[in-house]
Amino acid sequence: MLENPLEQYQDEFASQIGAKAARATALGRQALVLLLKALDIKEGDEIGVCAFTCLSVAEAVKVTGAIPVYLDVDEHLCIDPDQILKHSKNSLKAVILQHTFGNPGRLDELLDACNYINAIIIEDCAHALGSYWGEKHLGCFGSGAIFSFQWGKPYTTGQGGMLICSSELIAEVDQMLETWAVPQQIKSAIMLEIQRKAYSVASKTGVEFYIRSLYKLLRDKGFISGSFKLDSDFKFEKGYIKYPDRLTLKEGLKQLKRYPEVEEKRRKTVCLIENMLEQNNIPIWQRSENAKIIILRYPIFVENKNEILQIAAQKNLDIAGWYNSPVHPLKNDDLVKVNYAKGMAPDAEIYIEKLIHLPTYNVTEEDLELMINTICNEIK
Ligand SMILES: Cc1ncc(COP(=O)(O)O)c(C=O)c1O
Repeated sequence: MLENPLEQYQDEFASQIGAKAARATALGRQALVLLLKALDIKEGDEIGVCAFTCLSVAEAVKVTGAIPVYLDVDEHLCIDPDQILKHSKNSLKAVILQHTFGNPGRLDELLDACNYINAIIIEDCAHALGSYWGEKHLGCFGSGAIFSFQWGKPYTTGQGGMLICSSELIAEVDQMLETWAVPQQIKSAIMLEIQRKAYSVASKTGVEFYIRSLYKLLRDKGFISGSFKLDSDFKFEKGYIKYPDRLTLKEGLKQLKRYPEVEEKRRKTVCLIENMLEQNNIPIWQRSENAKIIILRYPIFVENKNEILQIAAQKNLDIAGWYNSPVHPLKNDDLVKVNYAKGMAPDAEIYIEKLIHLPTYNVTEEDLELMINTICNEIK
């Protein structure tokens, strides 16, 4: 029996990252709200957000009453530092630097740009567990950072979030938790445990891809609720922030212990992918020499994304294409509800039309070969 699993989990996470302190929540977006509020982000403040992101991030900003200001991306699918410099000093209260697929982009320039316009630096490390810039783990470059452990993340407990921050800020965070956070509901905890058991059986028996497809189908048909449901009230009230349940904490501690093994597998898979791409004259994804990263999904840019995705689906191959919008999965009028208007981030919109990506975990060499052959045969 664990003495205090919440404290143990938080302490182990912080020490693995090299952070001063960590606090766990039931979702990554809750950790982001907690961090923004602890940093005194208030109604009407403008917050710079990567224009290649998901609803969780936009929701968290809006829940605090602040306004997301979308910053266009560069070829790393991270914020382009020049887009920050277009803003006058003190106009953005904070910028959320999202390390897409584990890659921090041009991090030194991004940090300089934020400092130049006097914006608080927050890192979104939802994709970046195990990724370093120089000798320092991502998440340790600003005032605080958040992680997500939702399905599909580098390490997952099905759902889950964490924030890390300085020793000074942690007192604010703890006060916010005490005032606003509640325990996770038992029903949600049990549903999550059932999903984890199904996922574990599926990945051991090699049918994970099919289970994921079934999950997506049930979600799209409205039989189960997905993690990206647009609630246009964006209301902050007691209970928005939840503590993770005991079973999730137990799972988190287990996953943390085996994470070095996962990292090693992902590194090996990326080497395999890059060898295959080079043999087929497909450009590999450029990263800075300073970035020692664990890549969550391996990006490739193509002119006929939809065609390739369709063929991959027919062959049951795990080639994916998210994010499918600057604030995934929102389209058209729903984008306006999170302050995105078409054309605000033209480069992001172009990359979104071209991006496909490959898994770097739980995939066999034969399947990778099939995926890359499919791309080579169909690429335009
Ligand atoms: C870039 C990014 N940030 C934050 C999150 C936090 O998400 P959640 O609240 O679902 O844990 C996610 C999850 O999908 C993400 O992809």
